[in-house]
Amino acid sequence: MIRLGVNIDHVATVRQARGERFPEPLAAAHAAILGGADLITMHLREDRRHIQDRDVELVREALAVPLNLEMACTEAMVAFARRIRPDHVCLVPEKREEVTTEGGLDVAGQRDNVKATVDALRADGIVVSVFVDPDEQAMLAANDVGAEVVEIHTGRYANARGDAAVVHEFMAIRKAATTAHQLGLRVHAGHGLTYRNVWRVAALPEVEELNIGFALVARSLFVGLPAAVREMRDEMLRAREAARQDL
Ligand code: PXP
Repeated sequence: MIRLGVNIDHVATVRQARGERFPEPLAAAHAAILGGADLITMHLREDRRHIQDRDVELVREALAVPLNLEMACTEAMVAFARRIRPDHVCLVPEKREEVTTEGGLDVAGQRDNVKATVDALRADGIVVSVFVDPDEQAMLAANDVGAEVVEIHTGRYANARGDAAVVHEFMAIRKAATTAHQLGLRVHAGHGLTYRNVWRVAALPEVEELNIGFALVARSLFVGLPAAVREMRDEMLRAREAARQDL
């Protein structure tokens, strides 16, 4: 089985664009669940450009499905997470000037800080993943800091143009997933996934969960969020089933 985590950040992006009270991320979370979302993902950025503290609090309080909080490795975010107690935390790098999370977390480069963050969150019973680029060193570093899960950054694959480049980037993801699995890490993936490119990644047997946001929110403008989520989930399950029958 493969799970779909629906990232609702961009519902808040629309709200913040007008400084309004709507659309509410909590309402979007309910709609996503109606469409079959297995969990809800939210990124509370340091600059609070989309999701606000209150959005996370409301979703945590109201929903029965697991909450996956994406956050930077800072003391303030650790304190927030320990108060909210999401089921999962995904540690991501953050730069103020970026449009979205541009690369994976440099786990080896900030080993002590990442390890202290992982330790603190795990001590509170939170399952911690690190968002890393698809390369072997990153998998080893994730294992070294005690993360239980890696979320493999699929952005380079999603942005690749031309068959050769797409296959090259996909192979990197496949290899990283195998390495992570051999190390005993659980494997998630996400970033830039769409209805057109999700198939290959969803078919990888090591991948337990995909976190997808932008493509779902964009499609929801035309078909509504429950249908957008349902279509993506169906595509993922079809890919998985086709891969299983191929074995
Ligand atoms: N996973 C992580 C760790 C992310 O930071 C993001 C973007 O917030 C996503 C998944 C979802 O990416 P997208 O919005 O491109 O589907």
